[in-house]
Amino acid sequence: MESLILLVNTIQRACTTVGDYGGGNNALSSLWEALPSVAVVGGQSSGKSSVLESIVGRDFLPRGSGIVTRRPLVLQLHKTENGTEEYAEFLHLTKKKFTNFSLVRKEIEDETDRITGKSKQISPIPIHLSIYSPNEGQPETIVEDIESMVRSYVEKPNCLILAISPANQDIATSDAMKLAKEVDPTGDRTFGVLTKLDLMDKGTNALDVIEGRSYRLKYPWVGIVNRSQADINKNVDMMVARRKEREYFETSPDYGHLATKMGSEYLAKLLSKLLESVIRSRIPSILSLINNNIEELERELDQLGRPVAIDAGAQLYTILGMCRAFEKIFKEHLDGGRPGGAR
Ligand code: GDP
Ligand code: NA
Ligand code: MG
Repeated sequence: MESLILLVNTIQRACTTVGDYGGGNNALSSLWEALPSVAVVGGQSSGKSSVLESIVGRDFLPRGSGIVTRRPLVLQLHKTENGTEEYAEFLHLTKKKFTNFSLVRKEIEDETDRITGKSKQISPIPIHLSIYSPNEGQPETIVEDIESMVRSYVEKPNCLILAISPANQDIATSDAMKLAKEVDPTGDRTFGVLTKLDLMDKGTNALDVIEGRSYRLKYPWVGIVNRSQADINKNVDMMVARRKEREYFETSPDYGHLATKMGSEYLAKLLSKLLESVIRSRIPSILSLINNNIEELERELDQLGRPVAIDAGAQLYTILGMCRAFEKIFKEHLDGGRPGGAR
């Protein structure tokens, strides 16, 4: 069942290993673009890291306050007493004042790569950033930068959106739902996840959201109870947390009737099933993309003749080889996947 997801993972890894999403090579970057994926979106501390961890079933992310990119970004905001200047400083670069915020973003990316290499992996080592501003609240530039970064992922039509909203805030003001509404107005590829059900005011419940009356989506909403900060401090482990979550739903007077369709384990299964079916439905179009790539790469190689630039030629050969391999496996899935309509 999960072999298709593994296949897509392999292609994704191959695309990122050969270069920066194909090293600017059109064949690989268009393939990377077309691959189905899942993006987790939500406001700060809505529970994104917690949900990701319980889906994966392992503790591997830092959770708590702060914005997390591929490395956690510990962001401190300082209000300056005098002056109107807005600037930023990194802990690892204390001598440098950044006044251009696009350079701040670049430095976050560079510093991430310094630790994670070019592998595009994540690392738990935080980057410490201080922003000094005469304004109250978060400087607009940073917020806009992060928003456009997120948007570039979720705008891809093959990207499933795992939209995380905390139950102890008004759903109408949820960052996740605002973004989802913009990029997926029909709600066809958005999963609504409601965290922090345990933190709602006594005597209130989230049934209007969970039963789809507040915000209608194609797939039903899934309610979640993650580990609280106190649980994290006490090192409550994943399996205990899942058992407690299950008990919470089974014994809940509000959500008991929905218990089998709530919680992290259910969400993980649902998501994997859906990702699988999205991938399956996209196989023909991915296959024709790969075919086009192969033709184009062969033409490029022909034109190159004797490889003038040996590196370029070698890279094209590698990419061509990969595309041929992907084509073969995809075809097998396409043929083997439907023996007389079965499976
Ligand atoms: P992120 O910023 O969106 O990645 O949010 P985190 O996963 O880091 O969670 C932020 C804080 O909220 C942490 O202290 C979590 O322990 C806590 N938290 C997240 N989900 C829940 C939940 O369902 N219930 C409770 N009680 N706390 C939660
Ligand atoms: Na956080
Ligand atoms: Mg996080």
